[in-house]
Amino acid sequence: MDDQSPPATDASAIDYAWRRLLAAGETAQDSEILSLFETEPGRAERLSVTAAGLFIDLSKQPWSLDDLVTALVLAQMAGVEPAREALFAGAIVNASEARPALHMALRAPAGADFKAAGVAVSGEVEATRAKMAAFARAVRSGELKGATGKAFRAIVHIGIGGSDLGPRLIWEALKPLEPTIELRFAANVDPAELAQALAGLDPAETLVVVVSKSFTTQETLANGEAARAWLRAALGPASDAHLVAVSAAPDKAQAFGVPAEQVFAFWDWVGGRYSIWSAVGLSCAVALGFEVFERLLAGAAAMDDHFRTAPLEANAPVLLALAHVFNRNALGRPIRAVVPYSQRLRLFPAFLQQLEMESNGKSVTADGRPVSQLTAASVFGDAGTNGQHAFFQLLHQGTDVVPVDILAVREATDGDPAAQKKLLANAIAQAEALLVGRPAAEVRAELEAKGLPAAEIAALTPQRTFEGNRPSSFLVLERLDPERLGALIALHEHKVFVEGVLWGINSFDQWGVELGKSLASRVLGELEGGTAGHHDPSTAALIARLKA
Ligand code: F6P
Repeated sequence: MDDQSPPATDASAIDYAWRRLLAAGETAQDSEILSLFETEPGRAERLSVTAAGLFIDLSKQPWSLDDLVTALVLAQMAGVEPAREALFAGAIVNASEARPALHMALRAPAGADFKAAGVAVSGEVEATRAKMAAFARAVRSGELKGATGKAFRAIVHIGIGGSDLGPRLIWEALKPLEPTIELRFAANVDPAELAQALAGLDPAETLVVVVSKSFTTQETLANGEAARAWLRAALGPASDAHLVAVSAAPDKAQAFGVPAEQVFAFWDWVGGRYSIWSAVGLSCAVALGFEVFERLLAGAAAMDDHFRTAPLEANAPVLLALAHVFNRNALGRPIRAVVPYSQRLRLFPAFLQQLEMESNGKSVTADGRPVSQLTAASVFGDAGTNGQHAFFQLLHQGTDVVPVDILAVREATDGDPAAQKKLLANAIAQAEALLVGRPAAEVRAELEAKGLPAAEIAALTPQRTFEGNRPSSFLVLERLDPERLGALIALHEHKVFVEGVLWGINSFDQWGVELGKSLASRVLGELEGGTAGHHDPSTAALIARLKA
């Protein structure tokens, strides 16, 4: 295979495999997931997989074991295996930006030999990792001091999208109960967020880490400038020693005023939403300790190994992708809920929103033709049990079937282990309730046993009936440690990649966010008093109103 170009696939074979999957969906539409457990002995085991310390149970998904085979044939025909090879080989899988997508190189153990479009990169990756480790140790030990000679006690991490969501998730998931270094975040151009991040901090003890792959993002530059002004107002010109930058455009970061030795580079072959493993994770590496960051990388690398080597039928990212594709394409379900039963993982749905919807929210194939299948589902969610008291009503009794991914952590990280059991019990119970539901006859019998009048029983029974047959996946982390968190994120990165291959799209570009960005700068000029440009009548009226 030419490692500079994605693999060729046989269009008619893919088309046939898709038709078979859609036909399987028509049958699945009318069947009961629960009854599949009777007709398919060993279903729970066959549809469960363990990878890199994660257990994933896909047996409550709406597919039969035959449907799984059909889906695996599709994966084979669509070329998941050669595409996977091309990805790891550093081929140009992001054609519209003429780049590889080689985030796996960032978490590979020392001595790896990754090449991006034929150019060796592992050496540079290791050198940057060593620079991050040295910086993290110097800050944590107090050896590196601020302009007034004080050690650093706080970091304000400024970035947005992929330069924010991953670090925020990791900090929230792994932060100690009493951190020695406090880490705060500002992403939104709404000045309220930065104001809150800076509130109460002593500039003399604060590092400001500006993270932007492009170093041109309006929100990040605005917040970076405001934070720089905050430092300068308190500490004068020497305050630049409190500035750190992470970027694939290091010259721009230096021009911003960041001392060269505090600029950490990464590369254009690292997509923003795949960048937590690079120096984008620096704030976390400093605040959590570099050893913790290395363990996160190791967990992701273990998932890479699994994804790269496991056969399709036992491959966790592939099976998860196929379960999601079965819901999305064979059953036409446009939304998926993600519910981590872990307060520390409450930001995981927000992280997945960017990973999945920015990667796979596409309508044209990698070579520019309209897609032949529906692509990414919308993703939403919140921590369980909180979500149960908010949107679960719709999951159980709404008119749309919304597949749910439930994440559970077996051992408590903090607090009372008995309370952890309550959390787990809720996670399991919700999956069961979604699957089994509650038939009208059972509701009626219960109401009769309570002695309710017949009219009341007739009125209440339909309200209290759950039709069930609602699909879910169940993912278990033995405990929420850096390794398993790394594996969980990498699992979803590869799942998204597999889906992209099945749909024939480029999962690594994001042209759909550009139009809004350029219109925003035009509108800003007008709100600031510039001449009115051409707009549709509704927008023109809105600008006139808000300008006034
Ligand atoms: O929202 C578009 C986007 O380009 C994301 O893909 C990216 O993660 C984010 O903006 C931030 O970009 P940058 O890191 O270049 O500031």
